[in-house]
Amino acid sequence: MTFDRSIKIAPSILSADFADFGREIAAIEAQGADWVHVDVMDGHFVPNLTFGPPLVAALRPHVTTRMDVHLMIAPVDPYIAAFAAAGADVLTAHMEATPHIHRTLQAIRAAGCKAGLALNPGTGLDGVAYLLDEIDLVCVMTVNPGFGGQSFLEAQVAKVTALREMIGDRPVHIEIDGGITPATAPLMAAAGADVLVAGSAVFKGGSVATPAPYGDNIRAIRDAAEDARRAA
Ligand code: DX5
Ligand code: ZN
Repeated sequence: MTFDRSIKIAPSILSADFADFGREIAAIEAQGADWVHVDVMDGHFVPNLTFGPPLVAALRPHVTTRMDVHLMIAPVDPYIAAFAAAGADVLTAHMEATPHIHRTLQAIRAAGCKAGLALNPGTGLDGVAYLLDEIDLVCVMTVNPGFGGQSFLEAQVAKVTALREMIGDRPVHIEIDGGITPATAPLMAAAGADVLVAGSAVFKGGSVATPAPYGDNIRAIRDAAEDARRAA
């Protein structure tokens, strides 16, 4: 896929019906999702447990856009090959999950995936300057990772502004994750984010049987973000 900075909406299937992922993915893609965001949690790095590589592999044939796999696990290196083999397009690891993030990011690219670097809300940008040539995406967490449905942390807007400046012309996406709604997306779009992850705000009010609200929700986030971009 070619790089561009257009606004992309990445619904998190953490808010989908866990017994019906195949049809949920088809529904969000038919309703306008640009990427599909998959939250992997280990009950150790974050206080919640979700999916492993076999589940990600089972999702793969259902994703026709881009499968964006967010690893909230520590250690991460022993699992990179398995998630790459499962078909992740983007594999994102947390700065805080390893003392050797540079090595981890290199291993992700060597496994054939785009490399993402995620930053918890309490993590600054200090080390990021030294990683810019190793990454395809920075994920700025706008909640503490672990759960959907939490409130957006507004202090992260300044981080995105500074990151956008640091990235310059490099082909590196800025993704934001947590608490994204039509009210919070504009702040981040204006600051320079292009991939907007949203779980509860996309899935609310809809279902595989009644998917139109997914489309309404995706459009509302996208329109708010694009308006803010134009005005910025
Ligand atoms: C949080 C996850 C998010 C989460 C977002 O740890 O990384 O992707 O699903 O959910 P909302 O949009 O409900 O905050
Ligand atoms: Zn996520």
